[in-house]
Amino acid sequence: MSATPSKPSRSITVPDFVKAKAEGRKLSVLTAYDALWAKLLDESDVDALLVGDSLGMVVQGKETTLPVTLNEMIYHAKMVTRATQRALVIVDMPFMTYQVSPRQAISNAGRILKETGASAVKIEGGEAQAETIAALHRVEIPVMAHVGMRPQSVRKFGRHSAVQRDADQLLADAKAAEQAGAFSIVLELIPRQIAADITKQLTIPTIGIGAGPECDGQVLVTPDMLGLSGFRPKFVKQFAQLRDTIQQAVRTYSSEIRSGTFPDDSHSHH
Ligand code: KIV
Repeated sequence: MSATPSKPSRSITVPDFVKAKAEGRKLSVLTAYDALWAKLLDESDVDALLVGDSLGMVVQGKETTLPVTLNEMIYHAKMVTRATQRALVIVDMPFMTYQVSPRQAISNAGRILKETGASAVKIEGGEAQAETIAALHRVEIPVMAHVGMRPQSVRKFGRHSAVQRDADQLLADAKAAEQAGAFSIVLELIPRQIAADITKQLTIPTIGIGAGPECDGQVLVTPDMLGLSGFRPKFVKQFAQLRDTIQQAVRTYSSEIRSGTFPDDSHSHH
């Protein structure tokens, strides 16, 4: 197992992230899966990078997150931490790497922190995972919880876009996660008012995705918000249209090669 370089002191820590809520500072979180993107995002004033198991779809081209393995998450998280100087790095624990038992979760979360240099893990679930969150908290592994639409439960929900509307259950999940020691919680695809109520009742920051503006922060899948993936549900605002920009650049590249315009003398060694 190779040693991971320690982070510079100006990097954002878990306590800094938690403190943002008390100080009324909104948190900006994006997904990152490799060093190229981690460096680009880290240099662009984002508070946290989530190595999401959404990489199963975004990077690996699969239909769900279910096949993603722990070793794959570690492989990608290493690339992200290597290129990140400032942002807090949080790593998703993939399907069935924490649900079996708290013991399994500790051993796998331990591998993630030890081998990647990331600061925290994320697991999906509230009440149902409270014992596991508490076990991780006891061994001082910071945990971000994730309630509402949980992509690892897609077989139960039937689809990824199912909005969760049971306010009592959602609040119970969020409170159970906080009481168990989670330092933050993702609220995914929850009606705005329910997310606002949860945010008001918790002292830890809520990070919304499709859960309205009252959350303490927001997370989006980076290729979606940059208009790169072509995936455009209601909750995704496209802040750029990189798909068009990239495809136009590649068309120009190919056409200049074919016409003999590229390379010219300025691109040639003499
Ligand atoms: O896997 C992921 O990228 C996520 C975010 C969308 C919250 O869980």
